Amino acid sequence: MQDGECRGEDLTRIQRAGEILKQGGLVAFPTETVYGLGGDALNPDSSRKIYAAKGRPSDNPLIVHIAELDALAAITAEIPPAAWKLAEAFWPGPLTMILPKADIVPKETTGGLDTVAVRMPSHGVALALIRAAGGYVAAPSANTSGRPSPTKASFVAEDLDGRIEMILDGGEVGIGLESTIVDLTVDPPQILRPGYITQKMLAEVLGEVAVDATVLALAAGEDCAQAPRAPGMKYRHYAPKGQLTIVRGAESAVVDYINAQARADRENGGKVGVIGTEELLARYRADVVKSAGSRTDEATIAHRLYAILREFDEEQVTRIYSESFSTDGLGQAIMNRLLKAAGHQVVDV
Ligand code: TXA
Ligand code: MG
Repeated sequence: MQDGECRGEDLTRIQRAGEILKQGGLVAFPTETVYGLGGDALNPDSSRKIYAAKGRPSDNPLIVHIAELDALAAITAEIPPAAWKLAEAFWPGPLTMILPKADIVPKETTGGLDTVAVRMPSHGVALALIRAAGGYVAAPSANTSGRPSPTKASFVAEDLDGRIEMILDGGEVGIGLESTIVDLTVDPPQILRPGYITQKMLAEVLGEVAVDATVLALAAGEDCAQAPRAPGMKYRHYAPKGQLTIVRGAESAVVDYINAQARADRENGGKVGVIGTEELLARYRADVVKSAGSRTDEATIAHRLYAILREFDEEQVTRIYSESFSTDGLGQAIMNRLLKAAGHQVVDV
Protein backbone atom coordinates (compact mmCIF):
# COMPACT_ATOMS: atom_id res chain seq x y z
CA MET A 1 0.00 0.00 0.00
CA GLN A 2 1.41 3.35 -1.02
CA ASP A 3 0.11 6.90 -0.74
CA GLY A 4 -3.15 5.73 0.78
CA GLU A 5 -3.80 3.51 -2.23
CA CYS A 6 -4.31 -0.21 -2.16
CA ARG A 7 -4.00 -1.63 -5.69
CA GLY A 8 -6.82 0.28 -7.29
CA GLU A 9 -9.02 0.78 -4.24
CA ASP A 10 -8.47 3.66 -1.85
CA LEU A 11 -8.44 3.19 1.88
CA THR A 12 -11.58 5.26 2.42
CA ARG A 13 -13.64 2.83 0.37
CA ILE A 14 -12.02 -0.14 2.09
CA GLN A 15 -12.86 1.40 5.48
CA ARG A 16 -16.45 1.88 4.35
CA ALA A 17 -16.56 -1.75 3.17
CA GLY A 18 -15.22 -2.83 6.58
CA GLU A 19 -18.07 -0.94 8.29
CA ILE A 20 -20.61 -2.63 6.02
CA LEU A 21 -19.24 -6.04 7.03
CA LYS A 22 -19.28 -5.13 10.73
CA GLN A 23 -22.95 -4.18 10.38
CA GLY A 24 -23.82 -7.54 8.83
CA GLY A 25 -23.74 -6.52 5.15
CA LEU A 26 -21.95 -8.20 2.23
CA VAL A 27 -18.99 -6.92 0.19
CA ALA A 28 -17.22 -8.63 -2.73
CA PHE A 29 -13.45 -8.19 -2.79
CA PRO A 30 -10.40 -9.31 -4.77
CA THR A 31 -8.00 -11.97 -3.53
CA GLU A 32 -4.97 -13.41 -5.33
CA THR A 33 -7.00 -16.52 -6.32
CA VAL A 34 -10.53 -15.35 -7.26
CA TYR A 35 -12.96 -12.67 -6.01
CA GLY A 36 -14.64 -13.50 -2.70
CA LEU A 37 -18.10 -12.63 -1.37
CA GLY A 38 -17.39 -11.43 2.16
CA GLY A 39 -19.48 -11.33 5.31
CA ASP A 40 -18.61 -11.23 9.03
CA ALA A 41 -17.58 -14.84 9.74
CA LEU A 42 -18.65 -14.62 13.39
CA ASN A 43 -22.16 -13.36 12.58
CA PRO A 44 -24.59 -16.18 11.69
CA ASP A 45 -26.93 -13.75 9.89
CA SER A 46 -24.10 -12.65 7.57
CA SER A 47 -23.41 -16.26 6.62
CA ARG A 48 -27.10 -16.84 5.93
CA LYS A 49 -27.08 -13.77 3.68
CA ILE A 50 -24.06 -15.12 1.79
CA TYR A 51 -25.87 -18.38 1.01
CA ALA A 52 -28.95 -16.47 -0.11
CA ALA A 53 -27.01 -14.05 -2.35
CA LYS A 54 -25.16 -16.90 -4.09
CA GLY A 55 -28.11 -19.29 -4.21
CA ARG A 56 -25.79 -21.75 -2.48
CA PRO A 57 -26.88 -24.80 -0.44
CA SER A 58 -26.36 -24.00 3.25
CA ASP A 59 -24.57 -27.31 3.97
CA ASN A 60 -21.63 -26.04 1.92
CA PRO A 61 -19.23 -24.40 4.42
CA LEU A 62 -17.46 -21.05 3.95
CA ILE A 63 -13.76 -20.23 4.22
CA VAL A 64 -12.85 -17.80 7.04
CA HIS A 65 -10.28 -15.26 5.86
CA ILE A 66 -7.87 -13.78 8.40
CA ALA A 67 -5.12 -11.15 8.21
CA GLU A 68 -3.03 -11.96 11.32
CA LEU A 69 -1.63 -15.25 12.61
CA ASP A 70 -3.10 -14.57 16.09
CA ALA A 71 -6.55 -14.83 14.57
CA LEU A 72 -5.95 -18.50 13.78
CA ALA A 73 -5.90 -19.47 17.45
CA ALA A 74 -9.08 -17.51 18.14
CA ILE A 75 -11.22 -19.48 15.69
CA THR A 76 -9.72 -22.97 16.04
CA ALA A 77 -9.87 -25.45 18.94
CA GLU A 78 -6.52 -27.03 18.21
CA ILE A 79 -3.57 -26.20 15.96
CA PRO A 80 -1.30 -29.15 15.11
CA PRO A 81 2.40 -28.43 14.42
CA ALA A 82 1.79 -29.16 10.72
CA ALA A 83 -0.58 -26.18 10.53
CA TRP A 84 2.06 -23.82 11.91
CA LYS A 85 4.57 -25.14 9.39
CA LEU A 86 2.16 -24.60 6.49
CA ALA A 87 1.25 -21.13 7.72
CA GLU A 88 4.89 -20.20 7.87
CA ALA A 89 5.61 -21.58 4.41
CA PHE A 90 2.51 -20.42 2.48
CA TRP A 91 0.67 -17.62 4.31
CA PRO A 92 -0.30 -15.11 3.31
CA GLY A 93 -1.21 -17.03 0.15
CA PRO A 94 -3.48 -19.41 -1.75
CA LEU A 95 -3.74 -22.15 0.89
CA THR A 96 -6.80 -23.02 3.01
CA MET A 97 -6.46 -25.25 6.08
CA ILE A 98 -9.25 -27.31 7.68
CA LEU A 99 -8.95 -27.39 11.50
CA PRO A 100 -11.24 -28.13 14.48
CA LYS A 101 -13.35 -25.03 15.07
CA ALA A 102 -13.62 -22.91 18.22
CA ASP A 103 -17.06 -22.19 19.69
CA ILE A 104 -17.08 -18.58 18.51
CA VAL A 105 -17.40 -19.70 14.89
CA PRO A 106 -21.12 -20.22 14.22
CA LYS A 107 -22.35 -23.41 12.57
CA GLU A 108 -23.94 -21.22 9.89
CA THR A 109 -20.42 -20.36 8.72
CA THR A 110 -19.16 -23.97 8.76
CA GLY A 111 -22.24 -25.52 7.16
CA GLY A 112 -22.95 -27.39 10.41
CA LEU A 113 -19.45 -28.94 10.63
CA ASP A 114 -17.19 -29.00 13.73
CA THR A 115 -14.25 -27.95 11.57
CA VAL A 116 -13.46 -24.58 10.05
CA ALA A 117 -11.65 -23.67 6.82
CA VAL A 118 -9.11 -20.84 7.33
CA ARG A 119 -7.05 -18.87 4.84
CA MET A 120 -4.84 -15.78 5.00
CA PRO A 121 -4.93 -14.24 1.50
CA SER A 122 -2.00 -12.21 0.19
CA HIS A 123 -3.91 -9.57 -1.81
CA GLY A 124 -3.45 -6.09 -0.32
CA VAL A 125 -7.13 -5.12 -0.67
CA ALA A 126 -8.26 -8.38 0.95
CA LEU A 127 -5.91 -7.93 3.91
CA ALA A 128 -6.92 -4.30 4.42
CA LEU A 129 -10.61 -5.23 4.24
CA ILE A 130 -10.26 -8.10 6.74
CA ARG A 131 -8.54 -5.72 9.20
CA ALA A 132 -11.18 -3.04 8.67
CA ALA A 133 -13.93 -5.62 9.28
CA GLY A 134 -12.56 -6.77 12.64
CA GLY A 135 -10.43 -9.71 11.54
CA TYR A 136 -12.70 -12.56 10.37
CA VAL A 137 -14.28 -12.51 6.92
CA ALA A 138 -16.24 -15.52 5.62
CA ALA A 139 -15.95 -15.62 1.85
CA PRO A 140 -16.89 -18.11 -0.79
CA SER A 141 -16.08 -17.27 -4.39
CA ALA A 142 -18.21 -14.30 -5.50
CA ASN A 143 -20.19 -16.08 -8.22
CA THR A 144 -23.76 -17.31 -8.20
CA SER A 145 -23.74 -20.99 -7.37
CA GLY A 146 -22.85 -23.11 -10.42
CA ARG A 147 -21.04 -20.40 -12.41
CA PRO A 148 -17.26 -20.06 -12.80
CA SER A 149 -15.55 -18.17 -9.97
CA PRO A 150 -15.05 -14.50 -10.92
CA THR A 151 -11.56 -13.37 -11.84
CA LYS A 152 -12.45 -9.67 -12.21
CA ALA A 153 -14.94 -7.22 -10.70
CA SER A 154 -17.19 -7.04 -13.78
CA PHE A 155 -17.80 -10.80 -13.52
CA VAL A 156 -18.85 -10.33 -9.88
CA ALA A 157 -21.26 -7.59 -10.97
CA GLU A 158 -22.74 -9.88 -13.65
CA ASP A 159 -23.70 -12.40 -10.96
CA LEU A 160 -24.32 -10.37 -7.80
CA ASP A 161 -25.13 -6.74 -8.66
CA GLY A 162 -28.12 -5.60 -6.59
CA ARG A 163 -27.76 -8.50 -4.15
CA ILE A 164 -24.79 -7.17 -2.16
CA GLU A 165 -23.85 -3.81 -0.67
CA MET A 166 -20.52 -3.17 -2.41
CA ILE A 167 -17.89 -4.51 -4.80
CA LEU A 168 -14.23 -3.60 -4.23
CA ASP A 169 -12.36 -3.59 -7.54
CA GLY A 170 -8.73 -4.75 -7.51
CA GLY A 171 -8.52 -5.43 -11.24
CA GLU A 172 -7.85 -8.93 -12.53
CA VAL A 173 -6.75 -11.54 -10.01
CA GLY A 174 -3.30 -13.11 -10.30
CA ILE A 175 -3.90 -16.86 -10.03
CA GLY A 176 -7.40 -17.41 -11.36
CA LEU A 177 -8.24 -20.73 -9.61
CA GLU A 178 -9.44 -21.15 -6.00
CA SER A 179 -7.02 -21.91 -3.16
CA THR A 180 -5.65 -25.36 -2.38
CA ILE A 181 -7.61 -26.89 0.53
CA VAL A 182 -5.76 -29.20 2.92
CA ASP A 183 -7.43 -31.06 5.78
CA LEU A 184 -5.22 -31.13 8.88
CA THR A 185 -7.70 -33.04 11.05
CA VAL A 186 -6.54 -36.33 9.47
CA ASP A 187 -3.16 -38.04 9.36
CA PRO A 188 -1.54 -37.76 6.90
CA PRO A 189 -3.02 -34.39 5.88
CA GLN A 190 -5.25 -34.63 2.82
CA ILE A 191 -5.73 -32.33 -0.16
CA LEU A 192 -9.48 -31.79 -0.59
CA ARG A 193 -9.16 -29.34 -3.49
CA PRO A 194 -6.02 -28.98 -5.66
CA GLY A 195 -4.79 -25.45 -6.35
CA TYR A 196 -1.74 -23.27 -6.91
CA ILE A 197 0.02 -24.78 -3.87
CA THR A 198 0.70 -28.27 -5.23
CA GLN A 199 0.97 -31.65 -3.51
CA LYS A 200 4.72 -31.53 -4.11
CA MET A 201 5.04 -28.11 -2.43
CA LEU A 202 3.03 -29.32 0.58
CA ALA A 203 5.03 -32.55 0.81
CA GLU A 204 8.26 -30.57 0.90
CA VAL A 205 7.07 -28.96 4.13
CA LEU A 206 5.11 -31.80 5.72
CA GLY A 207 6.57 -35.02 4.41
CA GLU A 208 3.59 -37.16 3.49
CA VAL A 209 0.45 -35.56 2.01
CA ALA A 210 -2.49 -37.56 0.61
CA VAL A 211 -5.15 -36.56 -1.91
CA ASP A 212 -8.87 -37.05 -1.21
CA ALA A 213 -10.27 -40.16 -2.94
CA THR A 214 -12.97 -38.23 -4.79
CA VAL A 215 -10.41 -35.80 -6.25
CA LEU A 216 -8.36 -38.77 -7.49
CA ALA A 217 -11.43 -40.54 -8.85
CA LEU A 218 -12.46 -37.42 -10.80
CA ALA A 219 -8.96 -37.21 -12.32
CA ALA A 220 -9.02 -40.92 -13.22
CA GLY A 221 -12.46 -40.68 -14.78
CA GLU A 222 -13.99 -43.08 -12.25
CA ASP A 223 -17.19 -42.70 -10.33
CA CYS A 224 -16.44 -42.53 -6.65
CA ALA A 225 -18.92 -44.12 -4.26
CA GLN A 226 -17.57 -41.98 -1.40
CA ALA A 227 -18.87 -38.43 -0.75
CA PRO A 228 -16.17 -35.76 -1.18
CA ARG A 229 -14.85 -34.46 2.14
CA ALA A 230 -15.05 -30.83 1.03
CA PRO A 231 -18.85 -30.60 0.75
CA GLY A 232 -18.61 -28.01 -2.04
CA MET A 233 -16.76 -30.43 -4.27
CA LYS A 234 -19.89 -32.56 -4.70
CA TYR A 235 -21.82 -29.88 -6.54
CA ARG A 236 -21.53 -29.46 -10.30
CA HIS A 237 -19.42 -26.34 -10.28
CA TYR A 238 -18.00 -23.97 -12.84
CA ALA A 239 -20.62 -25.06 -15.34
CA PRO A 240 -20.67 -23.18 -18.65
CA LYS A 241 -24.03 -22.94 -20.47
CA GLY A 242 -22.65 -24.74 -23.52
CA GLN A 243 -21.93 -28.44 -23.17
CA LEU A 244 -18.18 -28.94 -22.65
CA THR A 245 -16.17 -31.96 -23.80
CA ILE A 246 -12.47 -32.50 -23.03
CA VAL A 247 -10.55 -34.19 -25.84
CA ARG A 248 -7.45 -36.15 -24.88
CA GLY A 249 -4.86 -37.71 -27.19
CA ALA A 250 -2.03 -36.97 -29.62
CA GLU A 251 -2.03 -33.39 -30.99
CA SER A 252 -3.15 -34.12 -34.55
CA ALA A 253 -5.80 -36.60 -33.43
CA VAL A 254 -7.21 -33.98 -31.03
CA VAL A 255 -7.33 -31.28 -33.74
CA ASP A 256 -8.92 -33.65 -36.29
CA TYR A 257 -11.55 -34.88 -33.82
CA ILE A 258 -12.51 -31.39 -32.67
CA ASN A 259 -12.73 -30.05 -36.24
CA ALA A 260 -14.90 -32.97 -37.36
CA GLN A 261 -17.21 -32.58 -34.36
CA ALA A 262 -17.38 -28.81 -34.84
CA ARG A 263 -18.38 -29.24 -38.48
CA ALA A 264 -21.15 -31.68 -37.56
CA ASP A 265 -22.39 -29.51 -34.67
CA ARG A 266 -22.52 -26.43 -36.89
CA GLU A 267 -24.47 -28.31 -39.57
CA ASN A 268 -26.99 -29.07 -36.82
CA GLY A 269 -27.30 -25.37 -36.00
CA GLY A 270 -24.92 -25.33 -33.04
CA LYS A 271 -22.42 -22.59 -32.24
CA VAL A 272 -19.08 -24.18 -31.41
CA GLY A 273 -16.26 -22.92 -29.19
CA VAL A 274 -12.77 -24.35 -28.75
CA ILE A 275 -10.33 -23.95 -25.83
CA GLY A 276 -6.92 -24.55 -27.35
CA THR A 277 -3.29 -23.91 -26.63
CA GLU A 278 -1.20 -21.37 -28.54
CA GLU A 279 0.70 -24.20 -30.25
CA LEU A 280 -2.40 -25.64 -31.98
CA LEU A 281 -4.66 -22.60 -32.22
CA ALA A 282 -4.34 -21.88 -35.95
CA ARG A 283 -5.42 -25.41 -36.82
CA TYR A 284 -8.94 -25.23 -35.35
CA ARG A 285 -12.03 -24.51 -37.44
CA ALA A 286 -14.92 -23.42 -35.20
CA ASP A 287 -17.11 -20.37 -34.51
CA VAL A 288 -15.05 -19.14 -31.57
CA VAL A 289 -11.50 -20.32 -30.84
CA LYS A 290 -9.94 -19.15 -27.57
CA SER A 291 -6.34 -19.43 -26.50
CA ALA A 292 -5.66 -20.71 -23.01
CA GLY A 293 -2.00 -19.75 -23.47
CA SER A 294 1.05 -21.82 -24.23
CA ARG A 295 1.06 -25.49 -23.25
CA THR A 296 4.32 -24.82 -21.41
CA ASP A 297 2.81 -22.02 -19.30
CA GLU A 298 0.28 -23.49 -16.88
CA ALA A 299 0.03 -20.31 -14.81
CA THR A 300 -1.48 -18.53 -17.83
CA ILE A 301 -3.88 -21.40 -18.53
CA ALA A 302 -5.08 -21.28 -14.89
CA HIS A 303 -5.40 -17.48 -15.10
CA ARG A 304 -7.54 -17.55 -18.25
CA LEU A 305 -9.75 -20.59 -17.77
CA TYR A 306 -12.73 -19.09 -15.91
CA ALA A 307 -12.81 -15.94 -18.05
CA ILE A 308 -12.92 -18.11 -21.18
CA LEU A 309 -15.84 -20.14 -19.81
CA ARG A 310 -17.75 -16.95 -18.98
CA GLU A 311 -17.02 -15.45 -22.42
CA PHE A 312 -18.44 -18.56 -24.09
CA ASP A 313 -21.64 -18.05 -22.08
CA GLU A 314 -21.86 -14.46 -23.27
CA GLU A 315 -21.28 -15.49 -26.87
CA GLN A 316 -24.02 -18.11 -26.49
CA VAL A 317 -21.85 -20.98 -27.60
CA THR A 318 -23.80 -24.26 -27.44
CA ARG A 319 -20.91 -26.75 -27.67
CA ILE A 320 -17.37 -26.36 -26.32
CA TYR A 321 -14.37 -28.59 -26.95
CA SER A 322 -11.19 -28.26 -24.91
CA GLU A 323 -7.75 -29.71 -25.17
CA SER A 324 -6.67 -31.73 -22.17
CA PHE A 325 -3.81 -30.60 -19.91
CA SER A 326 -1.10 -32.34 -17.91
CA THR A 327 -2.17 -33.51 -14.47
CA ASP A 328 1.11 -32.63 -12.76
CA GLY A 329 1.72 -29.60 -10.57
CA LEU A 330 -0.67 -26.74 -11.31
CA GLY A 331 -2.10 -28.88 -14.12
CA GLN A 332 -3.79 -31.00 -11.45
CA ALA A 333 -5.88 -28.01 -10.37
CA ILE A 334 -6.58 -26.95 -13.98
CA MET A 335 -7.83 -30.41 -14.96
CA ASN A 336 -9.84 -30.72 -11.71
CA ARG A 337 -11.82 -27.55 -12.57
CA LEU A 338 -12.09 -28.40 -16.28
CA LEU A 339 -13.42 -31.91 -15.52
CA LYS A 340 -16.06 -30.43 -13.23
CA ALA A 341 -17.05 -27.85 -15.83
CA ALA A 342 -17.35 -30.70 -18.34
CA GLY A 343 -19.47 -32.80 -15.98
CA HIS A 344 -16.69 -35.46 -16.40
CA GLN A 345 -17.20 -35.63 -20.19
CA VAL A 346 -13.85 -36.75 -21.68
CA VAL A 347 -13.18 -38.32 -25.08
CA ASP A 348 -9.96 -40.24 -25.77
CA VAL A 349 -8.88 -40.06 -29.41
O1 TXA B 1 -9.45 -19.17 -3.19
C1 TXA B 1 -10.41 -19.39 -2.47
O2 TXA B 1 -10.42 -20.29 -1.62
C2 TXA B 1 -11.66 -18.49 -2.65
C3 TXA B 1 -11.26 -17.08 -2.23
C4 TXA B 1 -12.42 -16.14 -2.21
O3 TXA B 1 -10.59 -17.11 -1.00
N1 TXA B 1 -12.76 -18.99 -1.91
C5 TXA B 1 -13.44 -20.13 -2.25
O4 TXA B 1 -14.52 -20.43 -1.45
O5 TXA B 1 -13.13 -20.81 -3.21
P1 TXA B 1 -15.66 -21.44 -1.87
O6 TXA B 1 -16.70 -21.28 -0.82
O7 TXA B 1 -16.08 -21.20 -3.27
O8 TXA B 1 -15.02 -22.85 -1.71
C6 TXA B 1 -14.78 -23.33 -0.41
C7 TXA B 1 -14.62 -24.82 -0.42
C8 TXA B 1 -15.92 -25.56 -0.64
O9 TXA B 1 -15.68 -26.65 -1.52
C9 TXA B 1 -16.24 -26.06 0.77
O10 TXA B 1 -17.00 -27.22 0.77
C10 TXA B 1 -14.86 -26.27 1.36
O11 TXA B 1 -14.12 -25.20 0.88
N2 TXA B 1 -14.87 -26.21 2.83
C11 TXA B 1 -15.11 -25.13 3.61
N3 TXA B 1 -15.09 -25.45 4.92
C12 TXA B 1 -14.82 -26.77 4.99
C13 TXA B 1 -14.67 -27.71 6.05
N4 TXA B 1 -14.80 -27.33 7.31
N5 TXA B 1 -14.38 -29.00 5.74
C14 TXA B 1 -14.23 -29.36 4.44
N6 TXA B 1 -14.37 -28.53 3.38
C15 TXA B 1 -14.66 -27.26 3.65
MG1 MG C 1 -16.81 -21.44 -5.16
